[in-house]
Amino acid sequence: MNTLRFPEGFVWGAATAAYQIEGAAHDDGRTPSIWDTFSRTPGKVFQGHTGDVACDHYHRYRDDVALMAELGLKAYRFSVAWPRIRPDGTGPVNPRGLDFYDRLVDSLVERGIDPIVTLYHWDLPQTLQDRGGWTNRDTAEHFAEYATAVYARLGDRVRTWTTLNEPWCSAYLGYGSGVHAPGVQDAGAAFSAVHHLLLGHGLAARALRAAGAETISITLNPADVQPADPESAADAAAVRLVDGLQNRIFLDPLLRAGYPEDMLAHIARFVEPTFIRDGDEKLIAAPIDLLGLNFYQPTYVAGRPDAVGNAGTFPGTEGVVDFLSPTGTVTDMGWLVEPAGLARLLERIATDYPGVPLMITENGGAFADTARTGDGRVADDDRIAYLDGHLRAAHEAISRGVDLRGYLVWSLLDNFEWAEGYRKRFGIVHVDYLTQRRTPKASARWYQEVISRNGL
Ligand code: NOJ
Repeated sequence: MNTLRFPEGFVWGAATAAYQIEGAAHDDGRTPSIWDTFSRTPGKVFQGHTGDVACDHYHRYRDDVALMAELGLKAYRFSVAWPRIRPDGTGPVNPRGLDFYDRLVDSLVERGIDPIVTLYHWDLPQTLQDRGGWTNRDTAEHFAEYATAVYARLGDRVRTWTTLNEPWCSAYLGYGSGVHAPGVQDAGAAFSAVHHLLLGHGLAARALRAAGAETISITLNPADVQPADPESAADAAAVRLVDGLQNRIFLDPLLRAGYPEDMLAHIARFVEPTFIRDGDEKLIAAPIDLLGLNFYQPTYVAGRPDAVGNAGTFPGTEGVVDFLSPTGTVTDMGWLVEPAGLARLLERIATDYPGVPLMITENGGAFADTARTGDGRVADDDRIAYLDGHLRAAHEAISRGVDLRGYLVWSLLDNFEWAEGYRKRFGIVHVDYLTQRRTPKASARWYQEVISRNGL
């Protein structure tokens, strides 16, 4: 029975990222990215896992695209690995790197699957990190040059261009807490990275627009920040700070042409913000046609003068914010399952930043996937429940007027989950890393049904 229908033309798809699935780390001129270096640094990634082989998608992409077609996907979001395209970060373009994405895009288009390209999903060429990475303003310029090179090769078939994936993670986890590559732990560096990532986005957006790109977007991971006690003024202050650090510091310059005043003051507590130059805010506010949102769980906070905060990930939250541990159902990541958070987030963005169409570019859950059916499939009822709940929440937001254009599940395949290595499985398709065998889980078949009905 079809109870919930999505709008005509709603985009159903799945997402992945280069370093998490491709493998082929040394093929066709690719050089190391910061994740190659980081994953080889003892103690940084679970059991020293690396993306050297991953899902070997680089060699198996044809079969993977066939699988996408079998599932009925309308769109596939993947990322391009910068170190394949400009192996030394700034020098000549490597045609053999582009060839791979050319073949991938062709096979998607052949099967009627719309390619959605992400230009930066965290795999900065190591050579650029050696010069400061995202704390160096030049990186923003190099990013725009690289984006232009990719567009020149794929722009005739790719309509949707996403500049960055989750710059919050790149900046705060990469340069603040250091739990992600490049593993720097310095609040000032994190804020300088925020700015240079946004600047890179703006410069790339301008270049893509000039080259004729149809749909230009960026994917953020804004938080649905909720107070422990809606009546408490201290909790409200905690919400405001976290909302500033994770949401407004990105959304305001992108969509309101300037950093929020409170965040400028906050940054100045850690670093002299000389990296913000005249004219930058105008560049960052280059018009976008779509805003991608990745959502996994809400964030509950309480305000207390003795709050421990989280200085690494959220600089300056000590003494203001207590991040509450989830109470309720959690995924294998320990993340709270609360689909209502997605509806709240969508409505909040649509209200506070009106006029830009939205797409859920990632949503999904890691689960242990131990239950098997007789034919070896994974009976991942918990993942189905997670996806079903979030799709219902997305539908609710649409029915309240949110202009939501599509939903991309994270992820098509089990893959390299960053610092967690291969131990966390987000795929709707199981990957046996010893044989590289792909087996659609029950959730994949369930999703196939959802797509074919355009609803739940
Ligand atoms: C967000 C990231 O974009 C993706 O790479 C990651 O695997 C998922 N979240 C799950 O943590």
